[in-house]
Amino acid sequence: LNRQSFPKGFLFGTATSAYQVEGETHQDGRGPSIWDAFVKIPGKIANNATAEITVDQYHRYKEDVDLMQNLNFDAYRFSISWSRIFPEGTGKINWNGVAYYNRLIDYLIQKGITPYANLYHYDLPLALEQKYQGLLSKQVVDDFADYAEFCFKTFGDRVKNWMTFNEPRVVAALAAVQRYRQNYQEKQKGRIGILLDFVWFEPLTSSKADNDAAQRARDFHVGWFIHPIVYGEYPNTMQNIVKERLPNFTEEEVKMVKGSIDFVGINQYTTYFMSDPKISTTPKDLGYQQDWNVTFNFAKNGTPIGPRAHSEWLYNVPWGMYKALMYIKERYSNPTMILSENGMDDPGNITLTQGQNDTTRIKYYRDYLAQLKKAVDDGANLTGYFAWSLLDNFEWLSGYTSRFGIVYVDYKDLKRYPKMSALWFKQLLKRDQK
Ligand code: FCB
Repeated sequence: LNRQSFPKGFLFGTATSAYQVEGETHQDGRGPSIWDAFVKIPGKIANNATAEITVDQYHRYKEDVDLMQNLNFDAYRFSISWSRIFPEGTGKINWNGVAYYNRLIDYLIQKGITPYANLYHYDLPLALEQKYQGLLSKQVVDDFADYAEFCFKTFGDRVKNWMTFNEPRVVAALAAVQRYRQNYQEKQKGRIGILLDFVWFEPLTSSKADNDAAQRARDFHVGWFIHPIVYGEYPNTMQNIVKERLPNFTEEEVKMVKGSIDFVGINQYTTYFMSDPKISTTPKDLGYQQDWNVTFNFAKNGTPIGPRAHSEWLYNVPWGMYKALMYIKERYSNPTMILSENGMDDPGNITLTQGQNDTTRIKYYRDYLAQLKKAVDDGANLTGYFAWSLLDNFEWLSGYTSRFGIVYVDYKDLKRYPKMSALWFKQLLKRDQK
């Protein structure tokens, strides 16, 4: 496997998100996001960790971009912190924040790294949560579109690849798309997409009941977002189950939503066996999706679905990536796709030596990339791949107890140390091989 195994122009990058890597959450004019408030609630985050410093990319971005270049990556997927640009979510602009993203983008370009900018990665401005309950309100649609438009106008001369939402709320995401298409796309010659988190759901047995369970899970998990975009309506399974609780698109919204992206970003980490709850022998209720009416299984006849990473939701199942990509290709008329996140974690408390010696991660990436290549060879319209993540960083609820980086961070002095997996990528991505 090497760079030449993939089509010409196929991009390789790493991915991060603003809240997870930037730090400097209180200074330089940034307003708080909902995560700044959440991490302060005792007991929510492992060891009550915060992201006030995390890996300090706000100040160390040059070092990080140099690393990307040194490791032969082509692209960087980062996110813009909405409350760093608009501290109150709307209205007043924080020009220090604008200057930061200008510095980052300029430096990426100077180093030959293509910027992929994501407008929203869970970090809603706290002010909007307080004002109207944030994403639960339709008011967020206009505020998000204004913020997005400001970013297109300010950074779009250099950023040609935009992503609206990591895990979208469809209408809000697509209102921003409309602004881009109307006002900027032609001029700036860029493209815009969304990011879908896509666990592959494999039926536990070949029974019809388990097949239906797996299909329900796919529809609720990704169909919810991509189905309206391709077909202008929610998937049938959802319509039948959620009924009147499912919002109706107005005719105007259908027009806006249908065909409203240039590419789909797919975050793909893992796979589960799904079964119908009535016949399952190992019920496991993950608690947050009653409507799905499915049982998640991490094993079949006592054999785990794959080796587990540190996070308890993450099993190494490369074949699931192939199936997920082919599913999107076949059911959703082969849209342009990028694989926008993929990776695995180690425990946070390992030493530098243990961290750097990450042979399991190399195997993970090698096996997943082989499946990605197989999907490309079988016609899936993929144009890029991003590893999660460049660096160990603040992993949401897990805080610093989980390390996803291909570069180890020593949290005592924030020094970066490439792991063996980073050097493996460097070799894979060498440009001069035959
Ligand atoms: C993804 C998130 C990303 C990171 C990885 C491990 O679902 O988008 O921020 O937490 O999981």
